Amino acid sequence: MLSRLKALFRGRSVTIQGVGKLEEGMSKKVAVGDPLAGGTSFVLCRVNGELFALDDHCPHEDGRIQDGPLADGRFAVCPLHGYKFDPRTGQAHEVSCRKARTYRVEQRGDDCEVWY
Ligand code: FES
Repeated sequence: MLSRLKALFRGRSVTIQGVGKLEEGMSKKVAVGDPLAGGTSFVLCRVNGELFALDDHCPHEDGRIQDGPLADGRFAVCPLHGYKFDPRTGQAHEVSCRKARTYRVEQRGDDCEVWY
């Protein structure tokens, strides 16, 4: 009963396999489910050895945050206007903009679980 209650507050989760090898300063885009039926996509980023998940919808004007190398090894970039976001907090870097949505991540060996 308690675990079902916890799951209710945590939201849905998904296990992403093989991301344990994601290198420092790199990111990878992951799509989960059908975007027309509650699915989403996010960018997994490795910063200071930890994995973070950032919604790929840019809070500026709804561009898509890209994957690949992080700017300065620690910022995810939206290519539409070049805004940078800190994957650890979702905060925009050096510009005035709402935070990008972040998701909780737990790495387990070569896999990770993301709550969205
Ligand atoms: S829409 Fe992403 S920076 Fe403008």
